[in-house]
Amino acid sequence: MEHKKLLITGGAGFIGSHVVRRFVKNYPHYEIYNLDKLTYAGNLMNLKDIEDYPNYHFVKGDIVDETFIQDLFNQHQFDGVVHLAAESHVDRSISNPTEFIRTNVLGTINLLNAANSIWKGQMEGKRFYHISTDEVYGSLGDTGFFTEETKYDPRSPYSSSKASSDHLVRAYFHTYGLPVVVSNCSNNYGSFHFPEKLIPLAINNIKLMRPIPVYGAGDNIRDWLYVEDHARAIDLIFHKGRSGETYNIGGANEWTNLDLIHKLCEIMDQKMHRAPGTSAGLITFVKDRAGHDHRYAIDFTKLKNELGWEPSLQFEEGLDRTVEWYLTNEEWLNAVTSGNYQHYYESQYEKR
Ligand code: NAD
Ligand code: TYD
Repeated sequence: MEHKKLLITGGAGFIGSHVVRRFVKNYPHYEIYNLDKLTYAGNLMNLKDIEDYPNYHFVKGDIVDETFIQDLFNQHQFDGVVHLAAESHVDRSISNPTEFIRTNVLGTINLLNAANSIWKGQMEGKRFYHISTDEVYGSLGDTGFFTEETKYDPRSPYSSSKASSDHLVRAYFHTYGLPVVVSNCSNNYGSFHFPEKLIPLAINNIKLMRPIPVYGAGDNIRDWLYVEDHARAIDLIFHKGRSGETYNIGGANEWTNLDLIHKLCEIMDQKMHRAPGTSAGLITFVKDRAGHDHRYAIDFTKLKNELGWEPSLQFEEGLDRTVEWYLTNEEWLNAVTSGNYQHYYESQYEKR
């Protein structure tokens, strides 16, 4: 079994923690370095169960710090990079777009430059894997799907910054021959999801009998994928995807926000032993998000045909597991919703 030294960025975040856990457990002959700045979204509690594995190493640092990144690559001579570190929340990108350009664009080019400099002349067996989002494709009407050929049309500061980083990654493939691969995935859900995003925010509010804020009419549509299915796709693409290619990843699981919230309310009524309809009474329509994308939906035929990947978990089962996880992991939920979270919540929602 081939030994590899891999850098995973953003491994203390939601998706990153699932990817780190999967790689550390499935590949004991790899050395996994998790580089994370531990912003509000990064949390070492997400990796408690694997922190003592001998093939796992944590490095605290900022991908925007060019010198630090170059030194880290010089020191470790990584064989591969799985790049997830990013500012990831659309609402925060509307309030503070510049931070998204710094992390998502400058951070990505620093990693590309460092990989390019240590792999120069010996690209064989190396891989730079950039994790991106379906939001770069823009917003769909009521029909159609995003394919890998869909024209980029990002419409929020978040998706624009991700689009920009995707273009840079592909430019390094064409210009320098850097062995890159890119994937664009739909909305994820599951454990360790920070409660600024719809599903964990709704679960937390329902638990506390607080209003559930629904933007606009709640008729926007998202395609939801269980996070462990995404981590499995990332594992496959990292090992078997073709260099220079893009793979779309999706759940074939479209829901309007309002239908999804009603479903969550039903599950919560049962689990919290509330009378049916109690949680749905918390639904509160609030001012819409600026530039709110109407619909995302992914065509993942390429990934299915080339690498045999498909989502494995039914949404009912995935949502049930997710709600159960949040109710069981009270300590985690309380820790991440204390302190700054309260300020964030007030600033985002008090004026809506
Ligand atoms: P997240 O916000 O939960 O985690 C981001 C992680 O990156 C955090 O641990 C944070 O501390 C770290 N980070 C942020 N800035 C950093 C910096 N300057 N230097 C080092 N580390 C830094 O995000 P997520 O939801 O897990 O998303 C991970 C990746 O997947 C992102 O690139 C995102 O664009 C992409 N993605 C997310 C989704 C989704 O539904 N969440 C869907 C498709 C793609
Ligand atoms: P979110 O989880 O922020 O993911 P994204 O915007 O990247 O798709 O939001 C999912 C959907 O839920 C989106 O249409 C916005 C909506 N939404 C609400 O209605 N209320 C909320 O409080 C949040 C956070 C999101």
